[in-house]
Amino acid sequence: MSVECFVTGGTGFIGQHLVANLSAKGHTVRVLMRHPERLAVLQEQVDSLGGVTSRVFAVAGDLERDKLGLSLADREVLKQARVVFHLGAHFAWGLSLEHSRAVNVEGAKRVALLAAEQNSRLVTIGGYMLKNHEHLQHIGIDPRDPELTNWPAVYRRVGAYEASKLEAHFATLALMSAKDGELTVVHPATVCGHSRTGHILDGQPLVALIRNLAQGKLTAVPGTAEHWLPLVTVDYLVELVAACAFDPAMAGQELLALDDQSPNLRELLVQVAQPMGLKPPRHHISLRLLRLLLSIPPIARFLNTNAEALDFIQTTRFDTAAVEQFANRHGIAKPDIRQSLQHTAMFVNSYYMAKSRAV
Ligand SMILES: NC(=O)c1ccc[n+]([C@@H]2O[C@H](COP(=O)([O-])OP(=O)(O)OC[C@H]3O[C@@H](n4cnc5c(N)ncnc54)[C@H](OP(=O)(O)O)[C@@H]3O)[C@@H](O)[C@H]2O)c1
Repeated sequence: MSVECFVTGGTGFIGQHLVANLSAKGHTVRVLMRHPERLAVLQEQVDSLGGVTSRVFAVAGDLERDKLGLSLADREVLKQARVVFHLGAHFAWGLSLEHSRAVNVEGAKRVALLAAEQNSRLVTIGGYMLKNHEHLQHIGIDPRDPELTNWPAVYRRVGAYEASKLEAHFATLALMSAKDGELTVVHPATVCGHSRTGHILDGQPLVALIRNLAQGKLTAVPGTAEHWLPLVTVDYLVELVAACAFDPAMAGQELLALDDQSPNLRELLVQVAQPMGLKPPRHHISLRLLRLLLSIPPIARFLNTNAEALDFIQTTRFDTAAVEQFANRHGIAKPDIRQSLQHTAMFVNSYYMAKSRAV
């Protein structure tokens, strides 16, 4: 059955894979684009990822604009959307509070309002930090009473990207609850490249890590042997997201998309170093010391790392029983994460490192 879908962030990494997945399943996919004139480029990408380009359309708009900057005609067309997938966000370290709020928080509220007003199921992408309640409490958020949060303090503490994602999540929950809208939230771990092709977009946190390793800027493993960077492959993630959207039992539910087989950080570096013929670091550097070093701008520039990224390296383990059950129920196979890491490293080496070497 073909269903009308509206996707924000469809030009991004996860978004491209989701658009490919949905269009390959026969759905019509309308993508919010700040630059709709780039539709042909997106279609080419979607085609290379196995999607069906004739089912992919652009809708001009911007998360930062009132009512998403949609034309009246597009607004009418979008009323057909059974599902609204919200993936659009400005992901970067060192954003200002004002800008990250304008795109990530206000943008999320605009998308939620649109979905609620036209009775579309809203599927949003949060982040696995929202499932780490100890971390949330530690940074001043009580998930049972998020309205009591001193948000400017959270922005100062964890940086604007993460804080705006957290604030957007709670604002979306509140808005959808007030409007009696149907919401499903998927919380991914850090996203790894495609399990078979290794496809990943430059700018993703894992690409930055692999590049730093290749450029000799990662000479010690951050944290201890207990520290890990929880991962999920992009293909497994979009299968879960797509299945969630059409599963009536997932209305009002949140799903943590995280592969508990993700190795610790040291082993992760071993996996990505091996296919690139590199030596992985063997010794550890404490996160506290690294944070201190990164507070010195020339060192942060040299190491090409931002202290905001360190929060995602942690020792907390997560209960993944729900996602395993959900995946089994929908016949979604979980790829081998170690192999996926190797494929991702090979992809980064072929497409992005070769480019940097050529410059
Ligand atoms: N990647 C991860 O490891 C990870 C992990 C957990 C959660 N997430 C979340 O998953 C979602 C997608 O992440 P991603 O990695 O695919 O991001 P991405 O590759 O950086 O893509 C971001 C998308 O948002 C769009 N966007 C940014 N600002 C916009 C604006 N003002 N108006 C309209 N669209 C705008 C971009 O469009 P343009 O092409 O116009 O720039 C792009 O399509 C985000 O919510 C992110 O926080 C990602």
